[in-house]
Amino acid sequence: MESLGALAGGIAHDFNNMLTGIMANLSLLSARSGGGENADIIRDTLEAARSAQLLTTHLLAFSKGGKPVKKEFSMEKSLADIFTLATRGTKAAHDLRLSEGLWSVEGDEGQIKQSINNLLVNALQAMPSGGTLTLAAENTELTAGGAVLPPGKYVRVTVADTGIGIPKDYLARVFEPYFTTKTQGHGLGLSMTWSVVKNHGGHVEASSEPGKGTQFEVLLPATGRNIKPETARDREIVKGAGRILMLEDEHIVIRAARRMISELGYECEVTEDGAETLKRYDAEAAAGRPFTAVIMDLTIPGGMGGKEAGAELRRRHPEAVIIVSSGYSDEPVMADFKSFGFDAVLPKPYRYEDLAETLSRLARK
Ligand SMILES: Nc1ncnc2c1ncn2[C@@H]1O[C@H](COP(=O)(O)OP(=O)(O)O)[C@@H](O)[C@H]1O
Ligand SMILES: [Mg+2]
Repeated sequence: MESLGALAGGIAHDFNNMLTGIMANLSLLSARSGGGENADIIRDTLEAARSAQLLTTHLLAFSKGGKPVKKEFSMEKSLADIFTLATRGTKAAHDLRLSEGLWSVEGDEGQIKQSINNLLVNALQAMPSGGTLTLAAENTELTAGGAVLPPGKYVRVTVADTGIGIPKDYLARVFEPYFTTKTQGHGLGLSMTWSVVKNHGGHVEASSEPGKGTQFEVLLPATGRNIKPETARDREIVKGAGRILMLEDEHIVIRAARRMISELGYECEVTEDGAETLKRYDAEAAAGRPFTAVIMDLTIPGGMGGKEAGAELRRRHPEAVIIVSSGYSDEPVMADFKSFGFDAVLPKPYRYEDLAETLSRLARK
């Protein structure tokens, strides 16, 4: 079982490198294209790549230790975002009810969005001839004596549909991996939701009345604070200037990153081994022209990887701006990058706008 976990983790990692090549290039094309039919083609392809990314998230969630990358995020914004995406172009009526001042959650935003999205997708699939999809969320405090979870602050998310419902015999089985009643189903959506929610210290349960509809309720530990969601302005592409040093051995990633970095106005230099990265940084710093930022991949087979090189670079050059990147989003370094000496984390696959956002944020520092 442990080697199965390692295998799943390894596949997810390789996949994420390939997806970086695909999504980075496509998002760059999309930023350049002026709309029209080509923009639609790119959008559809990106969509397919995103589905592939979800599959790797599934793999990682199942693989041993699948530690989420935890960061405080606005639940309000995440839920509104996935609801808009999920309901686009559907026939069912939909109702989004987020209570005022919804608490933020500390967790892996990508995983949590994905796990709620699985519930929305199922709900819509359960209403082939229309109905009403509701996504509701509210703050709640659990007190001692409640059965399933320790007392504390939680966000309660409810996804309800007026669809076909789940027969009583099946209700207990829907969270099992590979349980599906659909000809085209994989039976992995709910088991992923279940493991992500569990990994975040939460709880999920289903109730249903066949023929009337189904309701899924998710409880997630919350911070007790409401944070302002990112504004749209923050997602605008901000260009910069300077030189970026990369540590990366995957050629598809190197080529895609080079293009994106130069499109953003920076020069890019690539090293394929951590020892080489350190040597280049030392030389340029000694010549009085240190790099603006360094992006380091964690795993360099047969060479010094980003974890070791990053720690050493931080020791030699406390002022360096260092970003850690990896397709192993479950690596402890990724979840806890600051204590390993990094300034930011860029999980693979990343898109043009993700790279732009990270670089411009660090430049403001
Ligand atoms: N909202 C829902 N309404 C009716 N049945 C549902 C709903 N959500 C889940 N199910 C049942 O649970 C099963 C497992 O769901 P899931 O793990 O997402 O896999 P899949 O959607 O690929 O079948 C579904 O096949 C379906 O039988
Ligand atoms: Mg599903």
